[in-house]
Amino acid sequence: MHLQNHSKAREVSRITQDMHDFHEEAWNQLDRLEAGANKLKKGTPAERAAALKEIAKVASFIESGMWSHFKQEEDEVYTALKKALPPGRRRSVTGMEKDHKTMGALVDEVKEALKHAQSVAGASADQSLQTAAACLRLVNVMRKHITMEDLLYQELGETP
Ligand SMILES: [Fe+2]
Ligand SMILES: [Fe+2]
Repeated sequence: MHLQNHSKAREVSRITQDMHDFHEEAWNQLDRLEAGANKLKKGTPAERAAALKEIAKVASFIESGMWSHFKQEEDEVYTALKKALPPGRRRSVTGMEKDHKTMGALVDEVKEALKHAQSVAGASADQSLQTAAACLRLVNVMRKHITMEDLLYQELGETP
């Protein structure tokens, strides 16, 4: 990759480091989300109720940092990536922009499922499965997304 302007490159590298720090935090939260979703699928009613609380905490943590993170990536990092990547690889940035929409929709789905599950006394088995499925979809998409971004950001950060 080639970045023409060195001070711009330093600025981008500082931003990608911030982005990476958020990714690490989010990754730990995704592990918690996955564990909660699995408990929700197979647990006793008491375990399912505990899992719902755990999932609600994780969902609100993810959401609290996610939107500004997405915005900063889209406004600053993706623009730099598009400039630095050869034309044949720019499609990966378009894919990541799409991921942001998908993840936003999945977080909304998880929140909606939680609202429904929490409005009844504990979660029924069916509702639990639905909520767990939404959580696990979010975990999968977000892990793939973070992995891809970290690789590209590292490449961008190493640009002389
Ligand atoms: Fe992203
Ligand atoms: Fe990110």
